[in-house]
Amino acid sequence: MKTQFLGKTLSGPFTIPSGIVTCSAPIIQAFFDSIPEVGVLTTKSIGPTPRAGYREPVLSQYAPGCFVNAVGLTNPGAEKAAEMMAELVIPEDRFLLISIFGGSVEEYVSVAKIMAPYADGLELNLSCPHAKGYGMAMGQDPALVQEITAAVKAAVNIPVVPKLTPNVPNIGEIAQAAVAGGADAICAINTVGPGNHLSYGENVLSNGMGGMSGKGVLPLALKCVNEITNAVDCPVIACGGISSADNVRAFETLGANIFGIGSALVGMTTAQIGQYFKTLTNDLTSAKSNKAEALIRYDIDMDFQPLTLVSNEKVCDDIAILTFDKKVGVQAGEFIFLWIPGLGEKPFSALTDDPFSLVIINLGSLPTP
Ligand SMILES: Cc1cc2nc3c(=O)[nH]c(=O)nc-3n(C[C@H](O)[C@H](O)[C@H](O)COP(=O)(O)O)c2cc1C
Repeated sequence: MKTQFLGKTLSGPFTIPSGIVTCSAPIIQAFFDSIPEVGVLTTKSIGPTPRAGYREPVLSQYAPGCFVNAVGLTNPGAEKAAEMMAELVIPEDRFLLISIFGGSVEEYVSVAKIMAPYADGLELNLSCPHAKGYGMAMGQDPALVQEITAAVKAAVNIPVVPKLTPNVPNIGEIAQAAVAGGADAICAINTVGPGNHLSYGENVLSNGMGGMSGKGVLPLALKCVNEITNAVDCPVIACGGISSADNVRAFETLGANIFGIGSALVGMTTAQIGQYFKTLTNDLTSAKSNKAEALIRYDIDMDFQPLTLVSNEKVCDDIAILTFDKKVGVQAGEFIFLWIPGLGEKPFSALTDDPFSLVIINLGSLPTP
């Protein structure tokens, strides 16, 4: 499905929206090399300085295909990210869209100048709903959206694509402000909310609240894209809850040009993602079918089950065996995510399954982020 986008002829009309899957340079290169259907590669949002982000849990599933996340804009900072992006070999028919964020107009401009030499275009994350001081507050103000877009446009000579928040009463007005600032295209939507998800009475996300994505936000994303395409005349990257060819057809009918699929890929291996995009393309072209949806991992179980610690046996100074009160059903080669509300979540392999036990080695404290 050859697609025209901002001056390039692309090998496919899909992207994976910022922050999902394509978060490191080697993964982006692997997608360039093996999944041509993904014509636009969008990076994780990059800011002026390194950010460790929040402690896990940072992503949670509140219903099949529906997620909340608060990652906290984890990124290595613009200088380091530029070094990593410089290693990429971008094929002629792919588009590298580097997502950037800042806490002020000046920060957007400085990150844009550092990243622009390595990108085909810059996406402006004006819309993160859970990182204090970044994104959404700016993206809700049309005058600021216009000012940031115009300032970045003046600083670089590649296309600039503001990414809008759905958390506004009139997204068409924000899109008009972006275009008045010189936007070459618009991406919509970022996550919705923020909202809470509790398990056994405890907020799952360490940040408490998180932005909603996946199947549940599809109707809102369709409404937003409809309002944007009615308000402005520029290419639109549509994302928010897309999982099937029929969802893609819906956004196409509303005038979108590139289709972002993020949350729907949770739980898939790289090979499964490749097969998913092939099936989706076939659904949209020769077959006019809707088979890709069946490949989505709606069976992924991200629910927690409560366990009680019954013994903490010290083996030596820095090693202990923790034994819990029941079996969890973990198989050889699998690991479990152990979440202590208020403290964090980490993956552990099991020592025994019935009752569940694991070995803890004290490696010392992490430096404070
Ligand atoms: C785990 C996670 C991390 C995300 N990180 C970013 C980010 O760094 N920058 C950004 O602009 N959007 C970020 N998003 C929002 C997505 O790019 C996308 O706009 C949203 O998830 C809707 O698409 P989907 O329903 O297909 O996931 C993130 C979403 C998720 C689930």
